[in-house]
Amino acid sequence: MEYKKTIVITGGAGFIGSHVVRLFVNKYPEYKVINLDKLTYAGNLANLKDVENKPNYRFVKMDICDFDAFLSLMRSEHVDGIIHLAAESHVDRSIKDPFTFARTNVMGTLSLLQAAKLYWESLPEKYDNKMFYHISTDEVYGALEMTHPEGVESPFTTAASSQHHHAYGETFFVETTKYNPHSPYSASKASSDHFVRAFHDTYGMPTIVTNCSNNYGPFQFPEKLIPLFINNIRQRKPLPVYGKGENVRDWLYVEDHARAIDLIFHKGKVAETYNIGGFNEWKNIDIIKVVINTVDRLLGREPGEDMNLITFVTDRLGHDARYAIDSRKLQRELGWEPSLQFEEGIEKTVKWYLENQEWMNNITSGDYEKYYDDMYKNR
Ligand code: NAD
Ligand code: TYD
Repeated sequence: MEYKKTIVITGGAGFIGSHVVRLFVNKYPEYKVINLDKLTYAGNLANLKDVENKPNYRFVKMDICDFDAFLSLMRSEHVDGIIHLAAESHVDRSIKDPFTFARTNVMGTLSLLQAAKLYWESLPEKYDNKMFYHISTDEVYGALEMTHPEGVESPFTTAASSQHHHAYGETFFVETTKYNPHSPYSASKASSDHFVRAFHDTYGMPTIVTNCSNNYGPFQFPEKLIPLFINNIRQRKPLPVYGKGENVRDWLYVEDHARAIDLIFHKGKVAETYNIGGFNEWKNIDIIKVVINTVDRLLGREPGEDMNLITFVTDRLGHDARYAIDSRKLQRELGWEPSLQFEEGIEKTVKWYLENQEWMNNITSGDYEKYYDDMYKNR
């Protein structure tokens, strides 16, 4: 079949990437969707079982740092668009091993950009209808101040605003907030964002960058707060809360992020930046209590029975106090809003992990146990 477009989604076997691949494969049968992934510890093809046999889906195992292989793929597949999610994504790992983050996140992104440029510039129609869309994080902006540690009513509302709906400070990340990354992870993402914008400004490549807040939902690797804690509560293992659990994150259900990516890929303005957030700030300790109550209730335990698993441990080095996104530009210009209330999203998420125990067991057997021990034994 002649496809209307061929799109490469990098990191499609990871958490967010798998939701983006699923959405594009199902919604756009007229597009050929190539999932390009190295399958690191975080990549898992089991995340895409339901789409792997669709005619418009193809998986390619490749390292984004392999410039020659990617250039050949661009040429042989006549790639029109790239949605770039492949990255090393866990802050704690970046603190232990920053080199891997510079290699994949910085050099890998540059390698994709340069290969895309060479191929697209060789075409008679050059950049017509081409797009390099880079997925980034709000962590590049650094940390916001916690001027309201007890929380005040959030200045933002959406149709799906949660019952909680607090803000913990006066300021929010907007698209023009100055970059000020603190962790090796966010420094590497910041650097990759700069390269993407430089390819627009220098060569005229059509690029878009979006910076999103913390995602949660099915298929997230259980080193991140929410899936780690759901799994530990189920097994009655300690819940390592960094510092006092006072840090604030802005949580977005992963399918809402994937919907935003679809919208921006198709309707976003070239060279623009869009912030994507949940309008949904929570202190870690409060979110942890919601997760404990939900897991307990869904397992038929007394809600709150497992609060005693909370274990305060040594804080993360350079732990950013607060992230909170102002995503009103995206709301105003493209009409996007989160679709789920946080309470609904958490319920769906906990149910999914409890019903997909085999997925969790497959991931947490083998090397994971060793990583987990290494990560927590000195805390
Ligand atoms: P993830 O760690 O779950 O998945 C990353 C994927 O990239 C994996 O499938 C992995 O195999 C692949 N990958 C890693 N190195 C690679 C390489 N060298 N070559 C090819 N593939 C490679 O990450 P995620 O949480 O799904 O995040 C996806 C993207 O979204 C990242 O760029 C991240 O910075 C960004 N982001 C994440 C969040 C979040 O809350 N998780 C929020 C905002 C932005
Ligand atoms: P995480 O899921 O690693 O995302 P990020 O660091 O990108 O925001 O962590 C979310 C918050 O939870 C962060 O403030 C660190 C904290 N945290 C813990 O307290 N304990 C844990 O075991 C983990 C993984 C995170």
